[in-house]
Amino acid sequence: MSEDSPPKKEVAAVKGTHDILPGEVEKWQALERLARETFELYGYRELRAPVFEATELFEKGTGQTSDVVTKEMYTFTDKGGRSLTLRPEYTPSVARAIIEHRLDLQARPMRFYYMGPMFRYDRPQKGRYRQFHQIDVEVFGEQDPACDAELIGMADHLLRRLGVTDKEILVNSVGCRACRPAYSQALREEAGKRTAELCPDCRRKAETNPLRIFDCKVEACQSAARSFPEIQGFLCAECRDHFTEVLSLLGLYGIPIRVDPKLVRGLDYYTKTTFEFVSSGLGAQSALLGGGRYDDMMKDFGGPDICGNGFAIGMERLLSVVSLPLPERRLLYVAYLGGAAKRTAVELARFFREEGVECLVEFKDRGMKAHFGRANKLEASWVLVVGEDEIRKGRFGLKEMATGRQVEGTREELLGSLRG
Ligand code: HAM
Repeated sequence: MSEDSPPKKEVAAVKGTHDILPGEVEKWQALERLARETFELYGYRELRAPVFEATELFEKGTGQTSDVVTKEMYTFTDKGGRSLTLRPEYTPSVARAIIEHRLDLQARPMRFYYMGPMFRYDRPQKGRYRQFHQIDVEVFGEQDPACDAELIGMADHLLRRLGVTDKEILVNSVGCRACRPAYSQALREEAGKRTAELCPDCRRKAETNPLRIFDCKVEACQSAARSFPEIQGFLCAECRDHFTEVLSLLGLYGIPIRVDPKLVRGLDYYTKTTFEFVSSGLGAQSALLGGGRYDDMMKDFGGPDICGNGFAIGMERLLSVVSLPLPERRLLYVAYLGGAAKRTAVELARFFREEGVECLVEFKDRGMKAHFGRANKLEASWVLVVGEDEIRKGRFGLKEMATGRQVEGTREELLGSLRG
């Protein structure tokens, strides 16, 4: 760059994305730890799939009439001319991985979880980002309504462990391929009578997938949709029995729920049970998590006829309603004077770390006073003093910062005080 070039504008994070800095990241780690621990109690194991997939996977899986596919995907062509998409959700990736690795043939429970970033191009606002993070859970091959109830129970278990009390659990059934067409037709007819009240997007949805009208955020559409027919009257016997049993089991667990006949969820693949956990503390983007059963996805991907069921938690949203205690840090700061002491400080730091003590040695020469000032700023719990005298004797001074208490000893003796 020549000296005359204009100063460069700072490069900032892309709109709708955010950094998670130390101080905040500990809460993410605590949530991740608790989620892993909870899901493993129910026999779930981690499955990690790539961040990008063939675009076709989401078109087929997430569905051609969902907002996610029609408006929100980060799709690009790679140098080999392939159309790829940054995953907007995780469910189709897990289904693909099962088919690809024939996991259905293994004698293991097909219960998987994962945590990671997802990407959707939507207007950013509080609780809605372009890169956000989900904790995703999927179970396959379990037809029984007890599976739906257990999933809801497991999500509730995690939220209880996190101390989330402000939540409501909404549950619905969206029927199956046998009974939903009649319901869609009834909605289409109703929407046809009310076109003047609907936004252009919903008029289009009335043709392609009228259930999607329930997802519309436009007040006039929501108001019209309130008097649309409800799905319960259209469910076939199998879907009705399934739903009744899910509700009965949830009652058995003592989990309070509200049946919301308009809860169709924004993705195309759901069959039978759908659910969401909402929290009033979240504002407009009120869903903490959402999920449901999807019995046809594997078959539609050309894989085995195995049903699926799962949910995904929005991590940013969940973290905004929980207060997780930050872990207590116990840092040992090594203060040294002079070049020879620096070498010993490095060796001592190595020794203490190998013994499991969090230890920091900085490489800038400082006077003792400056070392203590720095240790204070870093909120170190102890300072280890390493000078020529100490090196000669092989005994070092250790100061506990909170109490001012000082002890002296060999590195092995000091370990006892540090582990206190
Ligand atoms: P979803 O409802 O699209 O479902 O997303 C699940 C959760 O992710 C939402 O409830 C919300 O907390 C969070 N979320 C979604 N979009 C954003 C965003 N733009 N910014 C921040 N948070 C967001 C699914 O993704 C399905 N795959 C869930 C599932 C799993 N169904 C069956 N298995």
